[in-house]
Amino acid sequence: MSVFRVGLLGHGTVGSAFARLLEEHAGRIERTTGLRPELSGVLTRSRGDSFPELLERSDLIVELIGGLDPAREYVLQALRTGRHVVTANKQLLSQHGEELWEAAREHDVQLRFEGAVAGVVPVIRVLQESLAGAVIDRVHGIVNGTTNFILTEMGRTGCAFADALAEAQRLGYAEADPTDDVTGRDAAAKMAILARLAFETPVHLDQVRYEGIERIQPDDLEYARELELGLKLIGTAERIDGDGLAVGVYPAFLYPGHPLASVNGPFNAVTIESEAITEVTMSGPGAGGPQTASAVLGDVISAMIPPASTPPALERLRIVSDVRSSFYLHLEVADEPGVLAQVSQVLALQDVSVKSVVQKGMRDQARLVMVVHPVLESRFAAAMDMIAGLPIMRAPPRAIRVIEEQFG
Ligand code: HSE
Repeated sequence: MSVFRVGLLGHGTVGSAFARLLEEHAGRIERTTGLRPELSGVLTRSRGDSFPELLERSDLIVELIGGLDPAREYVLQALRTGRHVVTANKQLLSQHGEELWEAAREHDVQLRFEGAVAGVVPVIRVLQESLAGAVIDRVHGIVNGTTNFILTEMGRTGCAFADALAEAQRLGYAEADPTDDVTGRDAAAKMAILARLAFETPVHLDQVRYEGIERIQPDDLEYARELELGLKLIGTAERIDGDGLAVGVYPAFLYPGHPLASVNGPFNAVTIESEAITEVTMSGPGAGGPQTASAVLGDVISAMIPPASTPPALERLRIVSDVRSSFYLHLEVADEPGVLAQVSQVLALQDVSVKSVVQKGMRDQARLVMVVHPVLESRFAAAMDMIAGLPIMRAPPRAIRVIEEQFG
């Protein structure tokens, strides 16, 4: 019997689930590949053999230790000594991906990372293989299960952000420190990886503009329901004017027909748009130990059978930070003559065109809720600054992007 030796780094939620899954499925994998996978050792930050010893007795390293150090050094050493590596480490790939992919190519080994983006949803493989023949225009994703769960719960029950977050943590969706989830940084790392594959351009996490959901109020979700819009934390990567690329993460409203509008709870989904293929959407569990472990095991099995590698970055699209977007605008105003006129004047000055407007409440409860047509974000931000300074405002203005379906 030939054995395929798997060295495991990390034994947290995903690592322990992976170790269990590997043992459970070893017989089945042996029947498929002719090799029996076995754990050759487990190394965590606080226990286990030294890394060189583990490396010595492994054919493949599964890196689930997370973070940059020592993960980067371990992965590099493994690749440079001819071991395949499977990782779910989005921070590492979004900050050091080029160096790691280069090492994998140079040493002719595989670096697989399906579990790093959207849990078990097979989006990496689809971008690298199935859609390799398509010129991609745009990628939209719900790539953070924690925030999608929180927004779904706030919308469903009217509960506060903090209560929904506590529940997400209890269910094991959130990162150990949920700051990266709620600020959008976790989703930004995943979008950097997706953008790299979709547009063949190196994208570093620092080049992704991101906003989180900490400022979303329960009444934003209430208005969303009335306007028949779904509120999601959306990641986007979009080709701009042929040679530009904008990558970002922000809360956004979606019209009901959008393929991501009905994705709820901890589910993730990614929509890939290209003129040739119109659109492809994949969805499924995006977080959780057993789910991510299943994606990791899938990568291990693929690495046991021959190759797939991430090619060098072939394009150098320029990263664009000011793009056009439609917005929802929520203004708490004084209910008196001329208010709408003042707001309209400021919007017109910045070339912002109003698509729909409703007034909610009266007197000291008055609110103007608007949706505006697509406009350059810088112009919209300038209008927001001016509106914030108007004496008729009772609170700072709130704005959330609105995404419309392109291939409707
Ligand atoms: N905390 C992440 C999420 C886990 O909520 O999506 C998967 O990366």
